[in-house]
Amino acid sequence: MTQPTTIAIDGTAAAGKSTVAAQLSQTLGYLYLDTGVMYRAVTWAVLARNIAVTNEEAVSELAETLSIEVTTTGPQDGRFYTVLVDGEDVTWAIRAKDVEAQVSRVSGYARVRTTLTNQQRHLAAKGSIIMVGRDIGTVVLPQAELKIFMEASAEERARRRHKELIEQGQAANYETILAAIQGRDKQDRENPVSPLIPAKDAIVINTDGLSITEVLTKIYELIDTQP
Ligand code: DC
Repeated sequence: MTQPTTIAIDGTAAAGKSTVAAQLSQTLGYLYLDTGVMYRAVTWAVLARNIAVTNEEAVSELAETLSIEVTTTGPQDGRFYTVLVDGEDVTWAIRAKDVEAQVSRVSGYARVRTTLTNQQRHLAAKGSIIMVGRDIGTVVLPQAELKIFMEASAEERARRRHKELIEQGQAANYETILAAIQGRDKQDRENPVSPLIPAKDAIVINTDGLSITEVLTKIYELIDTQP
């Protein structure tokens, strides 16, 4: 058995990709990069600099000049990593509603994707990395030794998110959450540059009814059976 040094995990929003990848990276001692944070970081910077999100040229130019760093150090406040944009800690800011509302437009711009894709390939060149996103197996790292595509029904993902919010003592409405997830699926599928599809050689894991531990067990089995 040869352990894969590059693992690509793609799939729909809220399918559990980040949780699975974070745990996997700890066990294997690999670097973990959630590429969604890079699209969020560009979107955050666009909004912070009052650039019109519809101005593709200006947004693309900004993406090309920004320094985005994802590090494993930072305050112990529940984060898996720290995201720095030109040295500023935006780890929590990139989760804000205004960023969430605009990020799919920004991630639909070809030059933004090319810029971030190049940075992602550069990071992966060192090896021992688990990269998470929408187009890692298809576009960013088509040579990845193990490609996983995680999916779950919109209803299951909405149920999980609803339960999570209730457990955190937050107000949550199942129907609203479901509609938001369906909206994000539509945007991902209709991304004009990299529509969300599994790579031909990806292993699709449907996580309906599976716990994180069960998904991880499946992935460890896949790693163990690598040729
Ligand atoms: O996974 P996430 O919700 O943090 O992703 C944020 C946005 O970035 C979402 O609109 C999908 C997009 N994205 C992308 O287009 N390509 C990637 N490799 C990762 C995320």
